[in-house]
Amino acid sequence: RYTTERIPTESSADDTGVAIVTSDAKILANVVKKQHLVHENYGGIHPYVAPGAVKEALEQANMRVTDVDGIAFTRGPGMTGCLGIGSSAARTLAAALSKPLVGVHHMQAHALTPLLTSPPPERPQFPFLTLLVSGGHTLLLLATSVSEFRILASTPDEAVGRVFDKVSRMLCLPWSKLGPGAALEEFCLDSTDDAAAPTPSVEVPTLPGAMPSILGFSFSGLHSAVERFVTANGGGEALDMPTKRALAREFQRAAVAQLEEKVQLGFEFCRRKGFQVRHVVVSGGVASNSYLRERLRIRMEQASPDVPIALVFPPPALCTDNAAMIAWASMPRFLAGDFDDYSIAIRPKWSI
Ligand code: KG4
Ligand code: ZN
Repeated sequence: RYTTERIPTESSADDTGVAIVTSDAKILANVVKKQHLVHENYGGIHPYVAPGAVKEALEQANMRVTDVDGIAFTRGPGMTGCLGIGSSAARTLAAALSKPLVGVHHMQAHALTPLLTSPPPERPQFPFLTLLVSGGHTLLLLATSVSEFRILASTPDEAVGRVFDKVSRMLCLPWSKLGPGAALEEFCLDSTDDAAAPTPSVEVPTLPGAMPSILGFSFSGLHSAVERFVTANGGGEALDMPTKRALAREFQRAAVAQLEEKVQLGFEFCRRKGFQVRHVVVSGGVASNSYLRERLRIRMEQASPDVPIALVFPPPALCTDNAAMIAWASMPRFLAGDFDDYSIAIRPKWSI
């Protein structure tokens, strides 16, 4: 009876999540235990977290564990220790309950999230592009079916969200409850001192953009350029407000310029290969940046003046690592009866 609820566990990195999702895309429970909060509360790590998270998810959904029809888990890629804990929790649960088991690819789950979160008519149609920009990922993916994906661009160094965080801290920007990356965006938007003190005391240089015509990201050059400028001028505390503002805005411009350029390049690549892309999904924490949203809108209009390209922004809570996306990604395999063995091994390194 695959009409179906799943208990997946997502544990590719620091957080532990458990969700219960139906095959018609209803999220009955979605629990995410952030590792830093867990540390504060218990001083503990995953092995202690997963069982509690399973219990909490069942309570949220008001279900007994025997009511679920299958168990999915994150098989890889990710950190061996974290994957191992999630996988043994899921395998034990599935074996004890005699339920089918499916191991999921973490990146495929990210790529399929918009099908879970955006119901028709917004639901993207294959083939679509996904730009996944978070603290841990900077990826441009082409999804051509529920099981076929291609990574068009990734970063060999830092993720764009992480660099937003670091630059925000380097500049000692005012605190935001949404985190340091969002604080940087807010700081750029604030124009209160623009009129009062229009000129920065030090001229802010143009920061490096993307490597031209290469389908790949890189943010460490931009990161070091900001760091060099700040250090050469006495550190973040020493910069006057207009200089800080000019630097923050130039950083945001350069970072976003790289993202929009690569999305356009990826889109054109797909078109050359014969894929008629009509939707671009933008997900991950950085997708909430309104300057990025506006720039992407302009870019896609330029890239495809005749056929409108829809930009889709799934809700941030489901773009961050979570178990609901793992459950959802497992669904086609559960429905096809394509299960894994209870002895299945994790795959810390696993191409998409
Ligand atoms: O997907 P996410 O919530 O979590 C993980 O990466 O796990 O992404 C968080 C990242 C952080 O690095 C944060 O700096 C960035 O998203 N971020 C932003 C904004 N809001 C969050 N970056 C730029 N502008 C924002 N408004
Ligand atoms: Zn992820």
